[in-house]
Amino acid sequence: MEQVIFPPPALGGVLRVPGDRSITVRAVLLGAVADGVSVIRDRLDCDDTNAALDIMRALGVSIRAEGATNAVLRVDGVGLRGLRPSPAPLYCNASGTTMRLLAGLMAGQAFASTLDGSAQLRTRPMRRITEPLGLMGAAISGTGDCAPLHIQPAALHGIEYAMPVASAQVKSALLLAGLYADGAVIVHEGAPTRDHTERMMAAMGVDIAAHDLVVMMRPPRSLRPLDITVPADFSSAAFFLVAGLLHPRARIELRGVGLNPTRTGLLRALNAMGADIRIQNSVLQGGEPIGDLLPAPGALRGIEVSGDLAPLMIDEFPIFAVAATQARGTTVVRDAQELRVKESNRIDGLVAELRRMGARIESTADGFIVDGPARLHGAAVDAYGDHRMAMALSVAGLIAEGETTILGADCVSKTYPTFYNDLTSLIKTHE
Ligand code: S3P
Repeated sequence: MEQVIFPPPALGGVLRVPGDRSITVRAVLLGAVADGVSVIRDRLDCDDTNAALDIMRALGVSIRAEGATNAVLRVDGVGLRGLRPSPAPLYCNASGTTMRLLAGLMAGQAFASTLDGSAQLRTRPMRRITEPLGLMGAAISGTGDCAPLHIQPAALHGIEYAMPVASAQVKSALLLAGLYADGAVIVHEGAPTRDHTERMMAAMGVDIAAHDLVVMMRPPRSLRPLDITVPADFSSAAFFLVAGLLHPRARIELRGVGLNPTRTGLLRALNAMGADIRIQNSVLQGGEPIGDLLPAPGALRGIEVSGDLAPLMIDEFPIFAVAATQARGTTVVRDAQELRVKESNRIDGLVAELRRMGARIESTADGFIVDGPARLHGAAVDAYGDHRMAMALSVAGLIAEGETTILGADCVSKTYPTFYNDLTSLIKTHE
């Protein structure tokens, strides 16, 4: 699908973007092995989360979608030992989160399983999880570094592991395997990464604690079911947040957004650039902070992003790069080499496509450098099958002169199927 974007005279409105992908996937996986019925409200309904749902159903878990918009999920947890083998491979589609977290969960089962996914997912690195899971005793074989992964039943041990990459997916895979281990799992992080798994496990009664970048959990006997309302996904809100800063006549309010500090590195970066973002109605909802975001248009200045800040905004670099094209001076991103192994090589993709629109941006081994501000002009740009590239380039189209065509825009269904409807709802045809 091609999506054509024109710069509108104004942008305005109140929006609640869909639920958080990371939290929805975790709630489905953990709810499935809890003792009793978990209730998950405002879950995200998209390709990634539906892959997780279909897999847990294939493993014998009954999951019902209820409510007017099917937004409430009831997951009939089967207990830690209640999953049943699936005759077919567990198909994770393009969801790296589902595959990596599921590998941890399946490593401790008393039956074999195969995890597979789309051609895109089959190119993404898996050794980062198979190696430490192997140290716990897991029996996983694959094709070099990549899926499909074949998992045989094995007795799992505790582990103390220092993660070589800052990855919440690796940390979470080990914690999920830890549910089945005979001893504690201790993970040392080099830099903070999203902590939704830790928060959710704690809410389910697991003995888990984190201090000074060390997470420790002891295997529980059972998990209490969840009763949660999923916050709006900060990573989805980020596109409209930046649109609300860059479009000169924007007045956008984003409601109920998840503001877990391990996710909001982009807010820190934008504030350092001089952005005016008000946060209202901050509350704690089911162990996760949420609030409303009110961006106001204004001038930005270039900054440097590196070190611990990079993992805290790891999914936001595509939209951050768009913001950087409009900032006065130079913006430098370092320590973000992980961007090369996301749904696409985001460093090379951003440089190629934003240059087509008139940006001054160049790649480095572990990031990129942008000189701004640049007047963007419309162009035909490629999303590389990457949802966040499609959405970031669409926001660039909102502030570019003329017509922008996003090639392969349907990939937004991975995390935000209603993105273009929501974008259209904010477009004002007069000021
Ligand atoms: C995620 C963690 C991040 C992020 C991904 C979702 C998660 O990946 O990029 O979109 O839900 O744990 P890494 O932990 O591999 O950096």
